[in-house]
Amino acid sequence: MNINILYISIVIYVLTSASLSAQVSATERPGATESLFSNNDPFVENLMKQMSLDEKLGQMTLFTTDWGSTGPTIRPGFENDIRSGRCGALFNSHTVEFTRRLQKIALEESRLKIPLLFGFDVIHGYKTMFPIPLAEASSWDLAAIELSAYVMAKEAAAAGLHWTYAPMVDVSREPRWGRVMEGAGEDTYLGSRIAEARVRGIQGDGFAKADRMVACVKHFAAYGAPIAGRDYATVDMSERMLREVYLPPYEAAVKAGALSVMTSFNEYDGVPASGNRFLLEKVLRNEWKFEGFVVSDYTSINEMVNHGNVKDETDAGILSIQAGVDMDMQGAIYQDKVKAGLKDGRITLAHIDNSVRRILSLKKKLGLFDDPYKYCNEEREAKTILSPEHLEATRDVARKSIVLLKNEKKILPLSPSAKRILIVGPLGDDQENMLGAWSGSGEARHCISLRAGMELQAKALGVTVDYVKGCAIEGDDQTGFSAALMKAKDADVIIVAIGESRDMSGEAAARAMIGVPGVQTDLLKLMKSTGKPVVTVVMSGRPLILTNVQNQTDALVQAWFLGTQAGNALADVLFGKYNPSGKLAMSFPRHEGQIPVFYSQKNTGRPYDPSVKWNSRYLDLPNDPLFPFGYGLSYSSFTYSMPRVDKTSFSNSDALTVTVDVTNTSGVDGEEIVQLYIRDLVGSVTRPVKELKGFRKVMIRKGETMTLTFSLSQKDFSFYRQDMSFGTEAGDFDIFVGPASDTQNKVRVTLQ
Ligand code: NOJ
Repeated sequence: MNINILYISIVIYVLTSASLSAQVSATERPGATESLFSNNDPFVENLMKQMSLDEKLGQMTLFTTDWGSTGPTIRPGFENDIRSGRCGALFNSHTVEFTRRLQKIALEESRLKIPLLFGFDVIHGYKTMFPIPLAEASSWDLAAIELSAYVMAKEAAAAGLHWTYAPMVDVSREPRWGRVMEGAGEDTYLGSRIAEARVRGIQGDGFAKADRMVACVKHFAAYGAPIAGRDYATVDMSERMLREVYLPPYEAAVKAGALSVMTSFNEYDGVPASGNRFLLEKVLRNEWKFEGFVVSDYTSINEMVNHGNVKDETDAGILSIQAGVDMDMQGAIYQDKVKAGLKDGRITLAHIDNSVRRILSLKKKLGLFDDPYKYCNEEREAKTILSPEHLEATRDVARKSIVLLKNEKKILPLSPSAKRILIVGPLGDDQENMLGAWSGSGEARHCISLRAGMELQAKALGVTVDYVKGCAIEGDDQTGFSAALMKAKDADVIIVAIGESRDMSGEAAARAMIGVPGVQTDLLKLMKSTGKPVVTVVMSGRPLILTNVQNQTDALVQAWFLGTQAGNALADVLFGKYNPSGKLAMSFPRHEGQIPVFYSQKNTGRPYDPSVKWNSRYLDLPNDPLFPFGYGLSYSSFTYSMPRVDKTSFSNSDALTVTVDVTNTSGVDGEEIVQLYIRDLVGSVTRPVKELKGFRKVMIRKGETMTLTFSLSQKDFSFYRQDMSFGTEAGDFDIFVGPASDTQNKVRVTLQ
């Protein structure tokens, strides 16, 4: 396809998905796509008849190559395993050249010539990096998120890859946990809609054109709730909490057609996920009817020995096979150790055959038996990767992911009279960190720093941009402060770019203290002391504690790690080319001591009242976060009418229509994310004070009013009742519609 046609098709795609998403009501859920699996396919059955036990176990074995590893490397020599048919899938190998070389070994040197499956962590971009997923979630823009997933899959598929370990859909209320950067934040409903969008973007309409990948929903399940926020730590919660808060995004992704699922490292109810029959058999296979295949996380089968629910690796492998884990990632347990279970009858050949059938069916679905080199086309690789259209797409998502947290005296967008801009801070001229964690094969040299982005637009505006680093991200060296102070004297406005480095979030990157590290806040204070207008741009992979940042700045911009086009996107927002529209997908605590702090909490028997001692509160802090879920400012301002309902009393079979008028009272066109929450006032079990049940992202022109309608149905009012059945209970509900989760703009209705 030539570039123009591709560009036009992307534009059409964006427009169609945008208009489609505008029509989606609060209650519509995409149905399961038709099963992509052809179980009992004669070709697969015939192939299986020819396979030895070792070759079958080989198909159930996944190894990393020596190109990279994302965990302990416990097993070199994967090439010989390909030759002997003892490894059917590889990860951390990409580019057409490398995957072709490895595929050739399988096809020319192994007995049955079964093509390899190539996987990789393509999480938020392959080479064109998009914002980290938590940032994208702040856009609440499902069409943009789907497009981002499509572009990353398209680039990775062009680089020889078939399978991405995304989307990560772990709900998390734990900002100390480094992996919040990979997910969609704290909310079940938003997380579920984003999970579907990402699956659609990755897998699209299938693999005919070799421009999509197989999605892998992870980490099943409840990985986002480790105690004390430490990665890999124990998860312990009620089944009610699991089903209500944590499971829906995985289910949504499965129902959207995701073809593979990855287990998690943690235990649930005392059993590690990779051996957990409740999760894998009861919930995933029996209740959700998942037909794809399950892969373990990296050596998580082996790790059950450390967990202490099995005595050795043989028992670990057998338990995983019994539970239904089809593929062993990097553990070499299926390859080496599970035969003992066949001998003593703890597992049967049927267990093995089921897994092999699923894996071979997927390879067939991808078209690899017809053309094993289908994904190996150098010309396509060169044309696709980092194409101008992809850079434009990431710039657009990046702008949408930025959240404006404070804008006193409307200091932003920068005034045309601010002719001398000074950028200060260790992240002000940084390319590497813009990639964020899990950066695929993204390269720092392709990233636009904040400074570069500002400079690119400054000239046309007659503005000069100067930069001084001031200090490093970490450490206590303040020797750069004086240079910053000197330059500040000549500036009309100071932009302070501070935050974390990209490796402070991601896997194995929990932080106990999640403030801005080092002496960066001191640098900010120094800049503020000059009396000049100060704009702070925070880059991070998680919500940081910004209590002592927000009181030292006139404007505060949450910029996450925005990917390849970070600097251009930020310049668009700071200069006012783009009116910010992002809203937080995760609450920002005032202090680590509040964690977990999230909007959808329970009322308790002694609800918060700061004037009374004997209730659920801190002596030294308010209960609420510094910035709540759903919060974010715009250069426009919006007012909301009271929500209206088409009936105040309704039954289970009714659709309830909720209407609200939103007015843009400012002189600037702007996008607003209108959010609908419900509260069930009395239940047989207690209900959260608010639950998101719908949202719309709309452009409202200056001075105009838009009337928005949401439709709620029985499912939206349902929950796991005392007996764990899912359904409604008669009674009163409050329905809130507003700009953030702390809205009190509500109407009361009664379910008969
Ligand atoms: C471990 C991580 O938990 C998982 O998300 C990732 O996909 C695998 N390593 C492979 O790199």
